[in-house]
Amino acid sequence: MNDMSLRVVSGTSSVQLVSGVAAALPGVTEVCEVVRFPDGELRPVVADVRGHDVYVVQSTGPPVGESIVELMLLLDACRRAGAARVTAVVPYFGYARQDRRGRSGEAVAARVVADALVSSGAQRLVVVDPHTAALEAMCSVPLEVVSAVPRMADALRDAVTARSVIVAPDFGAHKLAERYAAELGCPVVIVRKSRVSGEVVRAEGLVGDVDGCSVIIVDDMITTGGTIDAAMRLLQAHGAAGGAIVAASHGLLVGSAGERLAAAGVSRVLVTDSLTPVEHPGLAVQVRSIAGLLADAIGRLHRNEDLGQLGTIGPGSGGSTGGP
Ligand code: R5P
Repeated sequence: MNDMSLRVVSGTSSVQLVSGVAAALPGVTEVCEVVRFPDGELRPVVADVRGHDVYVVQSTGPPVGESIVELMLLLDACRRAGAARVTAVVPYFGYARQDRRGRSGEAVAARVVADALVSSGAQRLVVVDPHTAALEAMCSVPLEVVSAVPRMADALRDAVTARSVIVAPDFGAHKLAERYAAELGCPVVIVRKSRVSGEVVRAEGLVGDVDGCSVIIVDDMITTGGTIDAAMRLLQAHGAAGGAIVAASHGLLVGSAGERLAAAGVSRVLVTDSLTPVEHPGLAVQVRSIAGLLADAIGRLHRNEDLGQLGTIGPGSGGSTGGP
Protein backbone atom coordinates (compact mmCIF):
# COMPACT_ATOMS: atom_id res chain seq x y z
CA MET A 1 0.00 0.00 0.00
CA ASN A 2 1.08 3.54 -0.73
CA ASP A 3 1.23 6.24 1.99
CA MET A 4 0.88 9.09 -0.49
CA SER A 5 -2.64 10.25 -1.30
CA LEU A 6 -3.85 10.17 -4.85
CA ARG A 7 -4.38 13.43 -6.74
CA VAL A 8 -5.62 13.84 -10.30
CA VAL A 9 -4.86 17.05 -12.16
CA SER A 10 -6.92 17.65 -15.28
CA GLY A 11 -5.57 19.51 -18.28
CA THR A 12 -8.15 21.51 -20.23
CA SER A 13 -8.34 18.96 -23.04
CA SER A 14 -9.42 16.17 -20.69
CA VAL A 15 -11.83 17.84 -18.26
CA GLN A 16 -14.83 15.68 -19.19
CA LEU A 17 -12.79 12.49 -19.15
CA VAL A 18 -11.28 13.30 -15.76
CA SER A 19 -14.75 13.83 -14.27
CA GLY A 20 -15.50 10.26 -15.28
CA VAL A 21 -12.17 9.08 -13.84
CA ALA A 22 -12.87 10.89 -10.56
CA ALA A 23 -16.37 9.40 -10.37
CA ALA A 24 -14.92 5.91 -10.75
CA LEU A 25 -12.06 6.43 -8.30
CA PRO A 26 -13.29 7.02 -4.76
CA GLY A 27 -11.44 9.69 -2.82
CA VAL A 28 -9.70 11.23 -5.81
CA THR A 29 -9.32 15.01 -5.83
CA GLU A 30 -9.12 17.13 -8.97
CA VAL A 31 -6.85 20.08 -8.40
CA CYS A 32 -6.03 22.58 -11.10
CA GLU A 33 -6.84 25.92 -12.63
CA VAL A 34 -5.60 27.08 -16.02
CA VAL A 35 -5.64 30.80 -16.75
CA ARG A 36 -5.10 32.14 -20.27
CA PHE A 37 -3.48 35.54 -20.72
CA PRO A 38 -4.64 37.88 -23.50
CA ASP A 39 -1.59 37.04 -25.59
CA GLY A 40 -2.45 33.34 -25.44
CA GLU A 41 0.06 32.29 -22.80
CA LEU A 42 -1.19 29.69 -20.35
CA ARG A 43 -0.69 29.87 -16.61
CA PRO A 44 -1.73 26.65 -14.87
CA VAL A 45 -1.95 26.66 -11.08
CA VAL A 46 -2.09 23.40 -9.13
CA ALA A 47 -3.06 23.11 -5.48
CA ASP A 48 -2.75 20.51 -2.77
CA VAL A 49 -0.22 18.23 -4.47
CA ARG A 50 2.68 18.44 -1.98
CA GLY A 51 3.79 14.99 -0.89
CA HIS A 52 1.11 13.28 -3.00
CA ASP A 53 1.02 10.80 -5.86
CA VAL A 54 -0.11 13.00 -8.74
CA TYR A 55 -1.57 11.97 -12.12
CA VAL A 56 -1.75 14.76 -14.68
CA VAL A 57 -4.29 13.82 -17.35
CA GLN A 58 -4.11 15.61 -20.68
CA SER A 59 -4.67 14.30 -24.20
CA THR A 60 -2.49 16.11 -26.68
CA GLY A 61 -5.02 16.46 -29.46
CA PRO A 62 -5.78 19.62 -31.46
CA PRO A 63 -4.54 22.25 -30.90
CA VAL A 64 -1.67 19.81 -30.50
CA GLY A 65 1.18 22.22 -29.72
CA GLU A 66 -0.86 24.09 -27.16
CA SER A 67 -2.05 20.88 -25.49
CA ILE A 68 1.55 19.71 -25.17
CA VAL A 69 2.77 23.02 -23.72
CA GLU A 70 -0.09 23.01 -21.21
CA LEU A 71 0.80 19.47 -20.17
CA MET A 72 4.46 20.44 -19.76
CA LEU A 73 3.51 23.43 -17.61
CA LEU A 74 1.22 21.30 -15.45
CA LEU A 75 3.96 18.71 -14.92
CA ASP A 76 6.45 21.41 -13.98
CA ALA A 77 3.93 23.04 -11.65
CA CYS A 78 3.33 19.73 -9.83
CA ARG A 79 7.06 19.09 -9.50
CA ARG A 80 7.73 22.59 -8.15
CA ALA A 81 4.76 22.32 -5.78
CA GLY A 82 6.41 19.31 -4.14
CA ALA A 83 4.48 16.36 -5.56
CA ALA A 84 6.08 13.13 -4.37
CA ARG A 85 5.54 11.37 -7.70
CA VAL A 86 4.26 12.76 -11.00
CA THR A 87 2.73 10.60 -13.73
CA ALA A 88 1.63 12.04 -17.07
CA VAL A 89 -1.52 10.28 -18.29
CA VAL A 90 -1.76 11.08 -21.99
CA PRO A 91 -4.74 9.14 -23.36
CA TYR A 92 -4.09 10.40 -26.91
CA PHE A 93 -0.38 11.02 -27.48
CA GLY A 94 0.01 13.50 -30.36
CA TYR A 95 3.02 13.35 -32.68
CA ALA A 96 3.34 9.57 -32.17
CA ARG A 97 3.08 9.12 -35.94
CA GLN A 98 6.42 10.88 -36.38
CA ASP A 99 8.35 8.03 -34.78
CA ARG A 100 11.08 7.93 -37.43
CA ARG A 101 12.37 10.09 -40.23
CA GLY A 102 10.40 9.44 -43.41
CA ARG A 103 12.94 11.40 -45.36
CA SER A 104 16.11 13.35 -44.78
CA GLY A 105 15.55 16.67 -43.04
CA GLU A 106 12.63 15.59 -40.82
CA ALA A 107 12.54 15.48 -37.01
CA VAL A 108 11.66 12.47 -34.87
CA ALA A 109 8.86 14.40 -33.23
CA ALA A 110 7.58 11.58 -31.01
CA ARG A 111 10.97 11.47 -29.30
CA VAL A 112 11.07 15.26 -28.94
CA VAL A 113 7.66 15.27 -27.23
CA ALA A 114 8.53 12.34 -24.94
CA ASP A 115 11.75 14.08 -23.90
CA ALA A 116 9.89 17.35 -23.29
CA LEU A 117 7.37 15.66 -20.97
CA VAL A 118 10.12 13.92 -19.03
CA SER A 119 12.24 17.05 -18.71
CA SER A 120 9.13 18.90 -17.47
CA GLY A 121 8.70 16.48 -14.59
CA ALA A 122 6.96 13.29 -15.76
CA GLN A 123 8.43 10.37 -13.84
CA ARG A 124 6.19 7.91 -15.68
CA LEU A 125 3.83 8.01 -18.65
CA VAL A 126 0.52 6.27 -19.27
CA VAL A 127 -0.89 6.22 -22.80
CA VAL A 128 -3.85 4.54 -24.49
CA ASP A 129 -3.35 2.63 -27.75
CA PRO A 130 -0.52 4.83 -29.05
CA HIS A 131 0.13 4.92 -32.77
CA THR A 132 3.53 3.36 -32.37
CA ALA A 133 4.87 0.64 -30.10
CA ALA A 134 8.25 2.40 -30.52
CA LEU A 135 7.08 5.05 -28.05
CA GLU A 136 8.21 2.91 -25.13
CA ALA A 137 11.78 2.79 -26.42
CA MET A 138 11.70 6.56 -26.92
CA CYS A 139 10.82 7.29 -23.30
CA SER A 140 13.57 7.53 -20.73
CA VAL A 141 11.05 6.84 -17.96
CA PRO A 142 8.63 3.88 -17.66
CA LEU A 143 5.76 3.99 -20.15
CA GLU A 144 2.57 2.06 -19.39
CA VAL A 145 0.35 1.30 -22.36
CA VAL A 146 -3.28 0.54 -21.66
CA SER A 147 -5.64 -0.60 -24.35
CA ALA A 148 -9.23 0.27 -25.11
CA VAL A 149 -9.50 -2.66 -27.52
CA PRO A 150 -11.33 -5.11 -25.20
CA ARG A 151 -13.94 -2.43 -24.36
CA MET A 152 -14.27 -1.36 -27.98
CA ALA A 153 -14.61 -4.98 -29.10
CA ASP A 154 -17.37 -5.53 -26.53
CA ALA A 155 -19.32 -2.68 -28.09
CA LEU A 156 -18.95 -4.31 -31.52
CA ARG A 157 -20.06 -7.81 -30.57
CA ASP A 158 -23.70 -7.19 -31.50
CA ALA A 159 -22.66 -6.38 -35.08
CA VAL A 160 -20.50 -9.45 -35.72
CA THR A 161 -21.85 -12.13 -38.06
CA ALA A 162 -20.40 -15.29 -39.59
CA ARG A 163 -19.45 -13.12 -42.61
CA SER A 164 -17.68 -10.35 -40.68
CA VAL A 165 -14.04 -9.50 -41.32
CA ILE A 166 -11.75 -7.13 -39.43
CA VAL A 167 -9.93 -4.79 -41.80
CA ALA A 168 -6.60 -3.11 -41.06
CA PRO A 169 -6.59 -0.02 -43.31
CA ASP A 170 -2.78 -0.16 -43.54
CA PHE A 171 0.04 -2.47 -42.51
CA GLY A 172 0.67 -0.37 -39.39
CA ALA A 173 -2.78 -1.36 -38.08
CA HIS A 174 -2.20 -5.08 -38.60
CA LYS A 175 -1.37 -5.94 -34.98
CA LEU A 176 -4.28 -3.87 -33.74
CA ALA A 177 -6.57 -5.74 -36.16
CA GLU A 178 -5.24 -9.06 -34.87
CA ARG A 179 -6.20 -8.03 -31.36
CA TYR A 180 -9.76 -7.14 -32.40
CA ALA A 181 -9.91 -10.38 -34.39
CA ALA A 182 -8.88 -12.39 -31.32
CA GLU A 183 -11.63 -10.72 -29.28
CA LEU A 184 -14.33 -11.11 -31.92
CA GLY A 185 -13.33 -14.35 -33.65
CA CYS A 186 -13.12 -12.88 -37.16
CA PRO A 187 -10.51 -13.17 -39.93
CA VAL A 188 -8.24 -10.21 -40.74
CA VAL A 189 -7.89 -8.46 -44.08
CA ILE A 190 -5.19 -5.82 -44.70
CA VAL A 191 -5.26 -2.85 -47.06
CA ARG A 192 -2.01 -1.80 -48.74
CA LYS A 193 -1.94 1.97 -48.34
CA SER A 194 0.35 4.77 -49.44
CA ARG A 195 0.00 8.38 -48.35
CA VAL A 196 -0.03 11.11 -50.99
CA SER A 197 -0.55 14.08 -48.62
CA GLY A 198 -1.99 14.91 -45.20
CA GLU A 199 -5.54 14.42 -46.52
CA VAL A 200 -5.12 12.05 -49.44
CA VAL A 201 -4.10 8.41 -49.27
CA ARG A 202 -4.17 5.66 -51.86
CA ALA A 203 -5.47 2.16 -51.08
CA GLU A 204 -3.52 0.03 -53.51
CA GLY A 205 -4.53 -3.52 -52.81
CA LEU A 206 -5.97 -6.03 -50.38
CA VAL A 207 -4.43 -8.95 -48.55
CA GLY A 208 -7.44 -11.21 -48.00
CA ASP A 209 -10.97 -11.56 -49.31
CA VAL A 210 -13.98 -9.33 -48.52
CA ASP A 211 -16.44 -10.44 -51.22
CA GLY A 212 -19.91 -10.50 -49.62
CA CYS A 213 -18.46 -9.75 -46.18
CA SER A 214 -19.49 -7.11 -43.67
CA VAL A 215 -16.40 -5.14 -42.75
CA ILE A 216 -15.24 -3.69 -39.46
CA ILE A 217 -12.32 -1.35 -40.15
CA VAL A 218 -10.10 -0.78 -37.11
CA ASP A 219 -7.38 1.83 -36.63
CA ASP A 220 -5.66 3.62 -33.79
CA MET A 221 -6.97 7.02 -34.92
CA ILE A 222 -9.11 8.79 -37.48
CA THR A 223 -7.88 12.26 -38.39
CA THR A 224 -9.13 13.54 -41.76
CA GLY A 225 -10.88 10.28 -42.65
CA GLY A 226 -8.65 9.93 -45.73
CA THR A 227 -7.40 6.48 -44.74
CA ILE A 228 -10.91 5.13 -44.15
CA ASP A 229 -12.29 6.81 -47.27
CA ALA A 230 -9.65 5.16 -49.46
CA ALA A 231 -10.08 1.80 -47.74
CA MET A 232 -13.87 1.95 -48.21
CA ARG A 233 -13.56 2.52 -51.96
CA LEU A 234 -11.24 -0.44 -52.32
CA LEU A 235 -13.37 -2.70 -50.11
CA GLN A 236 -16.52 -1.82 -52.07
CA ALA A 237 -14.69 -2.48 -55.35
CA HIS A 238 -13.84 -5.94 -53.98
CA GLY A 239 -17.47 -6.73 -53.16
CA ALA A 240 -17.74 -5.85 -49.47
CA ALA A 241 -21.33 -5.65 -48.21
CA GLY A 242 -22.78 -2.23 -47.32
CA GLY A 243 -22.96 -0.82 -43.81
CA ALA A 244 -19.30 -0.75 -42.86
CA ILE A 245 -18.34 -0.07 -39.26
CA VAL A 246 -15.21 1.80 -38.22
CA ALA A 247 -13.61 1.52 -34.78
CA ALA A 248 -10.72 3.74 -33.71
CA SER A 249 -9.38 4.46 -30.23
CA HIS A 250 -8.84 8.14 -30.98
CA GLY A 251 -11.47 10.07 -32.95
CA LEU A 252 -9.79 13.32 -33.95
CA LEU A 253 -12.20 13.66 -36.89
CA VAL A 254 -10.87 17.04 -37.96
CA GLY A 255 -12.47 19.36 -40.53
CA SER A 256 -15.01 17.55 -42.69
CA ALA A 257 -13.90 14.05 -41.65
CA GLY A 258 -17.41 13.18 -40.45
CA GLU A 259 -19.02 14.09 -43.79
CA ARG A 260 -16.27 12.26 -45.61
CA LEU A 261 -16.90 9.03 -43.71
CA ALA A 262 -20.66 9.31 -44.17
CA ALA A 263 -20.21 9.90 -47.92
CA ALA A 264 -17.90 6.89 -48.13
CA GLY A 265 -20.72 4.66 -46.84
CA VAL A 266 -19.63 4.18 -43.23
CA SER A 267 -22.74 3.35 -41.20
CA ARG A 268 -21.31 3.56 -37.71
CA VAL A 269 -18.15 4.92 -36.10
CA LEU A 270 -16.99 3.80 -32.68
CA VAL A 271 -14.39 5.88 -30.82
CA THR A 272 -13.37 6.45 -27.20
CA ASP A 273 -13.52 9.68 -25.25
CA SER A 274 -9.72 10.01 -25.22
CA LEU A 275 -10.55 13.26 -27.03
CA THR A 276 -13.66 15.24 -26.24
CA PRO A 277 -16.36 13.91 -28.60
CA VAL A 278 -17.88 16.31 -31.11
CA GLU A 279 -21.16 15.88 -33.04
CA HIS A 280 -20.83 15.03 -36.74
CA PRO A 281 -24.11 15.63 -38.60
CA GLY A 282 -25.07 12.67 -40.78
CA LEU A 283 -22.69 10.27 -39.06
CA ALA A 284 -23.57 7.91 -36.22
CA VAL A 285 -20.66 8.23 -33.80
CA GLN A 286 -20.79 6.01 -30.75
CA VAL A 287 -18.45 6.82 -27.85
CA ARG A 288 -17.12 4.15 -25.53
CA SER A 289 -15.72 5.81 -22.43
CA ILE A 290 -12.25 4.94 -21.18
CA ALA A 291 -12.82 6.74 -17.86
CA GLY A 292 -13.24 3.44 -16.02
CA LEU A 293 -10.19 1.98 -17.74
CA LEU A 294 -8.03 4.95 -16.73
CA ALA A 295 -9.43 4.94 -13.20
CA ASP A 296 -8.53 1.28 -12.92
CA ALA A 297 -5.02 1.90 -14.30
CA ILE A 298 -4.40 4.92 -12.06
CA GLY A 299 -5.70 3.05 -9.02
CA ARG A 300 -3.39 0.12 -9.69
CA LEU A 301 -0.35 2.32 -10.31
CA HIS A 302 -1.09 4.26 -7.14
CA ARG A 303 -1.15 1.00 -5.18
CA ASN A 304 2.09 -0.03 -6.93
CA GLU A 305 0.33 -2.94 -8.61
CA ASP A 306 0.91 -4.38 -12.05
CA LEU A 307 -1.50 -3.27 -14.79
CA GLY A 308 -2.19 -6.91 -15.65
CA GLN A 309 -4.82 -7.34 -18.34
CA LEU A 310 -5.20 -3.58 -18.79
CA GLY A 311 -1.77 -3.40 -20.39
CA THR A 312 -0.70 -4.44 -23.84
CA ILE A 313 2.69 -6.00 -23.30
CA GLY A 314 3.12 -8.28 -26.29
CA PRO A 315 1.50 -7.32 -29.59
CA GLY A 316 1.59 -3.54 -30.00
CA SER A 317 -1.47 -1.45 -30.62
CA GLY A 318 -0.09 0.19 -33.68
CA GLY A 319 3.07 0.28 -35.68
CA SER A 320 5.22 2.40 -37.83
CA THR A 321 5.31 0.17 -40.89
CA GLY A 322 2.32 1.82 -42.50
CA GLY A 323 3.46 5.41 -42.05
CA PRO A 324 1.00 8.13 -41.16
C1 R5P B 1 -1.63 6.06 -39.70
O1 R5P B 1 -0.94 5.09 -39.93
C2 R5P B 1 -2.70 6.07 -38.67
O2 R5P B 1 -2.79 4.82 -38.05
C3 R5P B 1 -4.05 6.44 -39.25
O3 R5P B 1 -4.40 5.49 -40.22
C4 R5P B 1 -4.04 7.79 -39.89
O4 R5P B 1 -3.26 8.67 -39.17
C5 R5P B 1 -5.44 8.34 -40.00
O5 R5P B 1 -5.37 9.62 -40.56
P1 R5P B 1 -6.41 10.08 -41.65
O6 R5P B 1 -7.77 9.85 -41.07
O7 R5P B 1 -6.10 11.54 -41.85
O8 R5P B 1 -6.15 9.28 -42.88
